[in-house]
Amino acid sequence: MKTINGKTRICALLGNPVEHSMSPAMHNALFHKFGLNYRYLCFRVEPSQLKEGVHAIRTLNFLGANVTVPYKQSVIPYLDKLDPIAKKIGAVNTIVNHQGTLTGYNTDWLGFTNSLEEVYSLKNKKVVLVGAGGAARAIIYGLQKRGAKLTILNRTLDKAAKLGQEFDCAYGNLQELPKITADVLVNATIIGMSPFTKTSILEEKNIKHFKVVYDTIYNPLETQLLKFAQKQELICLNGLKMLVYQGGAAFKLWTQQEPDLNLMYQSALASMQT
Ligand SMILES: NC(=O)c1ccc[n+]([C@@H]2O[C@H](COP(=O)([O-])OP(=O)(O)OC[C@H]3O[C@@H](n4cnc5c(N)ncnc54)[C@H](OP(=O)(O)O)[C@@H]3O)[C@@H](O)[C@H]2O)c1
Repeated sequence: MKTINGKTRICALLGNPVEHSMSPAMHNALFHKFGLNYRYLCFRVEPSQLKEGVHAIRTLNFLGANVTVPYKQSVIPYLDKLDPIAKKIGAVNTIVNHQGTLTGYNTDWLGFTNSLEEVYSLKNKKVVLVGAGGAARAIIYGLQKRGAKLTILNRTLDKAAKLGQEFDCAYGNLQELPKITADVLVNATIIGMSPFTKTSILEEKNIKHFKVVYDTIYNPLETQLLKFAQKQELICLNGLKMLVYQGGAAFKLWTQQEPDLNLMYQSALASMQT
């Protein structure tokens, strides 16, 4: 690891909470491998301090930042420029500082689509996305970009309807899920995470309505939903690669270098075990 000195620049994670993040492990491993004099650090920012938090990127000449829950949308007014894809998605997870000008990008959609298309092509496939929160917006953009035919389901129908209208795709209530058959099922809800680790968005008896099950959750790595899918020998993906691929795309924006995705994956995995 390069010694910290007067030229060391910081890459920040802004969010609340941030203590669980695996991004420091992934990015610091890359900075070390590439001999870059950068450090990745997490900053818990209170909602009332977000503007100041973003401004600190300029003032303290940070290399850039990632943005996580709950600020991916609310950060936008504090940036100087917005990449057109981030604008369409309506959320920013990566900020690049170019001589004091802050530009917002979204790499979550790439994280999702690249990790899925590594094992399954999305073109003309029927996909059901469950969830209509922040993660869903990037996933919808990615699915449409890759030519999938999409239905959004959500517990709160209004939110699914809003996204369905905005992105021009089918939508419905989560209760409709057991009746639907499609190629891919994506879970972008918190069902499967603590404290919902014993629950699943779909019962085991209906899991064979799908060929591929993608759960965006990465902690735990195997959710109840993925256990059902695994048992039926479906193609199963958890959210760890999505995390790694979005991080890799952010690394490239900050450094213009190709990331070592395997190193990022291994570093994230190791950080989960500590
Ligand atoms: N792998 C990655 O890199 C990555 C990145 C970002 C997010 N994620 C994952 O994506 C998931 C969603 O994150 P987010 O940022 O989009 O969160 P969010 O904006 O808070 O959205 C939460 C979603 O979960 C649904 N939900 C909450 N409680 C529910 C319940 N009891 N039953 C059914 N649905 C429920 C919400 O439905 P309502 O609208 O009805 O409340 C909403 O659709 C999380 O599991 C997160 O780990 C993964």
